[in-house]
Amino acid sequence: MVECTSVTVFAAIGAAFIGFKLLTLLKTLFDTFVASGVSLKKFGAGEGAWAVVTGATDGIGKEFALQLAKKKFNVLLISRTASKLEAAAKDISEQFGVETKTFAMDFTKGDAEDFKKVGEIIDSIKVGVLVNNVGVNHDIPTPFVEEDDTIINNIIEVNIKGLMKMTKLVLPQMKANHKGLIFNMGSFAGLVPTPYLSVYSAGKAFLSTWSQALGTEVAKDGIVVEHVNTYFVVSAMSKIRKPSLLIPTAKNYVASVLSKVGVPCGANVPFTSTPYPMHGVVNWAINNLLTNQFWVTQNDNIQKDIRKRALRKREREAAARKAE
Ligand SMILES: NC(=O)c1ccc[n+]([C@@H]2O[C@H](COP(=O)([O-])OP(=O)(O)OC[C@H]3O[C@@H](n4cnc5c(N)ncnc54)[C@H](OP(=O)(O)O)[C@@H]3O)[C@@H](O)[C@H]2O)c1
Repeated sequence: MVECTSVTVFAAIGAAFIGFKLLTLLKTLFDTFVASGVSLKKFGAGEGAWAVVTGATDGIGKEFALQLAKKKFNVLLISRTASKLEAAAKDISEQFGVETKTFAMDFTKGDAEDFKKVGEIIDSIKVGVLVNNVGVNHDIPTPFVEEDDTIINNIIEVNIKGLMKMTKLVLPQMKANHKGLIFNMGSFAGLVPTPYLSVYSAGKAFLSTWSQALGTEVAKDGIVVEHVNTYFVVSAMSKIRKPSLLIPTAKNYVASVLSKVGVPCGANVPFTSTPYPMHGVVNWAINNLLTNQFWVTQNDNIQKDIRKRALRKREREAAARKAE
């Protein structure tokens, strides 16, 4: 009798556990395929508001600039190369008839004068959206002990310090206007620690925690902070050229981000969204299936493999140079 009761209790606990997991999966699927995000009109689209996009001349950042312009935001584009900025700004104003401004700066320098100047531009416009997109990574997966100090400093300067400085420049006016949207471009490397990309991975984990804390602080001021959790996207940084079910083009990726503002999709922490459908499902799996150690080990194996191939490529290139 006692045995029968304990079996029933364990079966009920098991059924409740599986039921809860299934509910979270259903919620992920609903968020991903059905729910609509907050309208960008709430942040001034079509009413003269500006979107500020860092790393705006390539990859995901360029798509943010284009698609926000299409939604009728004026756009301030920021990245290193003045010629690429001018070309992107011209393209945007011709295609969408919005105003553009550009500012060339290298975030790795952390130059106070650059931030002062960009701050002056920001103070002269009404900022509705900030896209904290610019990011740098390790050149190839590298053991921390062997990593070049310049690369380590660059990752911290761009992915952490630069992003916080940009946010501080827009927050006062967003607070005064009682509206604003801040996208922080995160990565699955911040969700699951990634050996051999340890500084990038930890920087993105910082971003996740910081976004949740900041998002809570400023919600009362009408400001939405959205930490965008990104798996691979076709881009120069990912070195992936062909899209697949799991790896969208930057264009499709950004379209997902902009349509799901405020919708977590696969994410289970506040102020975070995993808006691209297959990324959402993978995020759910990471949160709900197997152990963190399992996922870290997967990352370890993947990065070791990428490192091996990258080192072989370097050797081939060195041999080819020698032969010339
Ligand atoms: N692609 C992915 O698979 C992936 C996955 C997860 C997360 N993310 C995140 O998404 C964001 C964008 O990545 P992406 O793949 O689109 O990058 P990307 O294709 O390499 O584009 C980088 C952009 O940033 C600019 N930039 C690079 N270094 C800069 C610097 N030091 N100062 C100022 N501007 C700089 C580049 O223009 P200039 O060269 O002219 O400066 C370019 O416009 C990053 O935060 C990244 O961590 C990407």
